[in-house]
Amino acid sequence: MPEEEATVSIFDRGFLFADAVYEVTSVVDGKLLDFDAHMARLVRSLGELEMDMPLDRDAILEVHRELIDKNSVDQGVVYIQVTRGVADRDFLYPKDAAQTVVMFTQSRKLTGEKKGLRVVSSPDIRWGRRDIKTVQLLAASMGKMAAYKQGKDDTWLVKDGFVTEGSSNNTYIVTKDGKIVTRHLSNSILSGITRAAVLKLAAEQGLEIEERPFTMDEAKEASEAFMTAASSFVTPVIEVDGTELNGGVPGPVSKRLNEIYIEESK
Ligand code: PDD
Repeated sequence: MPEEEATVSIFDRGFLFADAVYEVTSVVDGKLLDFDAHMARLVRSLGELEMDMPLDRDAILEVHRELIDKNSVDQGVVYIQVTRGVADRDFLYPKDAAQTVVMFTQSRKLTGEKKGLRVVSSPDIRWGRRDIKTVQLLAASMGKMAAYKQGKDDTWLVKDGFVTEGSSNNTYIVTKDGKIVTRHLSNSILSGITRAAVLKLAAEQGLEIEERPFTMDEAKEASEAFMTAASSFVTPVIEVDGTELNGGVPGPVSKRLNEIYIEESK
């Protein structure tokens, strides 16, 4: 429907409690990337919050495809959000609320040469279940705003001395001896779909991978750094907390992984 006609109740629990989960799936050449992996994560996020899928996978795929078609999306993303639905405001989950499901597209260029980003750390003040992809994104939004105010592009969030993730991406460093280090999966980070795909490709390239927490000091010593997300693929990082990496230009590992990822997705 036209966006002006798409409305949600003020009593929707997505609005009142951030009681909602979402997925962002990228589109290249009009085709969805890793759709099934995104749906599997959606099922998991919903399950952790005692919710079921509101529609089956095929029905969701059909709407995604229809939206890509109707909005003539060549490159961009499809967003889906599922909320627990509409109910009188109460901290207990309502028994029989009908879930709200919203989907829309955003066109944006995803492929091509990437400029490296400058990141600055900030405290990770998000809740303890970052593995569930909920719409409570204000802490990440605050962190990114703080970075922008310092003239930087994004923030790397730090908890107990170690980097968790970026504001909306998974984070990586490449050590001087060529190892890719990225935080291991747990409740502390989102299990990125792009992360899984990129780590698989990196392993196939014979690159060594260490899944463990790393500090900002280690990042400053790295030969390069990058981040991944469905909405931006592999994005090089050229500065961390004021220290330039790889002479302030995107490094060879991140550039190569981005190229391979795009090539493989076609
Ligand atoms: N964000 N970590 C966080 C906190 C994220 O929000 C995201 C994605 C990722 C990367 O996950 P994936 O590779 O599955 O996109 C990691 C989406 C793109 C967003 O909020 O727009």
